[in-house]
Amino acid sequence: MDHHDDMTLVLLGATGDLTRRLLFPAIYRLYADGKWSPKHIIGFAKEDWSQEKFLAHIEENLKQFVEPFDTSTWKRLRDSISYQAGDLDAKSLEGLKSRIPKAAVFYLGLPPQLFGPAAEALGQAGLNRGPGWRRLVIEKPFGWDLPSAEALRESIAPWWDEDQIFRIDHFLGKDTAQNVLVFRFVNRILGSLWDSEHIQQVQITYAETLGVEGRWQYYDRAGALRDMLQNHLLQLFTLVAMEPPSDWDAADLHNHKAEVLRSVRRIAPERVADFAVAGQYGRGTLEGKPVAGYTDEEGIAASSTTETYAALKLFVDNWRWHGVPFYLRSGKRMAKDWAEIAVQWRPVPENLFGAGSADWLIFRMKPDEAIDLVMWAKRPGLGLYTAPVVLTSPYKKAGEIEYSAYEQLLLDVIQGDHSAFPRFDEVEESWRIVDPILSAWANLQPEPYAAGSEGPAAQDRLMEPGLSWRHLSLNQASGHEGV
Ligand code: BG6
Repeated sequence: MDHHDDMTLVLLGATGDLTRRLLFPAIYRLYADGKWSPKHIIGFAKEDWSQEKFLAHIEENLKQFVEPFDTSTWKRLRDSISYQAGDLDAKSLEGLKSRIPKAAVFYLGLPPQLFGPAAEALGQAGLNRGPGWRRLVIEKPFGWDLPSAEALRESIAPWWDEDQIFRIDHFLGKDTAQNVLVFRFVNRILGSLWDSEHIQQVQITYAETLGVEGRWQYYDRAGALRDMLQNHLLQLFTLVAMEPPSDWDAADLHNHKAEVLRSVRRIAPERVADFAVAGQYGRGTLEGKPVAGYTDEEGIAASSTTETYAALKLFVDNWRWHGVPFYLRSGKRMAKDWAEIAVQWRPVPENLFGAGSADWLIFRMKPDEAIDLVMWAKRPGLGLYTAPVVLTSPYKKAGEIEYSAYEQLLLDVIQGDHSAFPRFDEVEESWRIVDPILSAWANLQPEPYAAGSEGPAAQDRLMEPGLSWRHLSLNQASGHEGV
């Protein structure tokens, strides 16, 4: 583990949304919980604010986002925080040099178009080299497609080595994501059943009731495929599909993740409709209230063809997964906040007790985190009838601290652990998977779905014979009549 007692955390774009909503609440929780005592945190941004104004702004937001907020904890934490106004150029950044005694993390809380220029300006100012280690943190999106991702890398690479760069995909800091690997690799009974001989399908769903929430300038250009699938959902997919690493080592992990992404069958431009569905929400009802359609939202043109829902069917051309469909979907303004990774085994070859049934293993992420194993058993009473039994392990006990993903990821950056941060080749391979779909969708009118529904009806066309999408709810398995 690196020595990090004296390190400085520099937040660039410190007056922005990421810092106030996610980073400072995470820093506060780590501090309050005794996990990290920051010595120097420097907020850097172009706003000409005084230190007092910056601290008041952070305090106000902590009160909103942290529960419980304790004034005396904040008073101690705030002593380590300072603010410096400046432009994102080498000259202004050089002013930070004398304030950084040793190791430092530079966290870019900036709009994506500034990642390259900021990384370069930090390099020109000499902040990319010590005393002490120097690290750069950037958040997705890493590019807009494969060529722009490569261009971004080229603008950063002259200044920062790959092992100095931490790309945040915050899903990898979520407990359930980490648990997929732990659960897979610590339980022997899963190991021998984790392949195409036994598994018939995998469905990864991330449904949100949220709409665009004032982010229309970004979202209307991005769409669901770029916003959620290219990064978060493909990362979750790698956790399910990768080969077991031989050691808990970041490089090993990334090799296996990149390998499985490389094995994903490429979708030919003329076959995109068979493998991907774009949807856009129209007016509807959510939790009993009428909600506007996407094109009625502030800032969105009536003619917008941006997808607010995307679904993909992927096949992995390797021995382990030959022929198994992986379904990935995510949408805004769906019926529920419901997120899960669901793996279904094949039915038994001869079902002695009536109609077919098949077992599921479900990693639930939202609304709460749990692992469900759905198996079948005799229904109590007379006759041999089957009914599903759900073995559930609630993942968190009541009263346990609720961390966002950022606490874990910040600690990992400070400790220099790359395992939860996508390496560039993973990003690259993910773009290779989605780029043909993005091109095919450039002028496509997405399929409509009502706000508050489970997505466009057209999503069903992706399903292999005999399979169907899971509902956004727990109780989907029904009993079967027996002999
Ligand atoms: C972000 C997307 O990366 O992830 C958002 O830009 C999405 O559109 C969010 O709402 C979902 O993550 P979480 O952790 O808030 O459920």
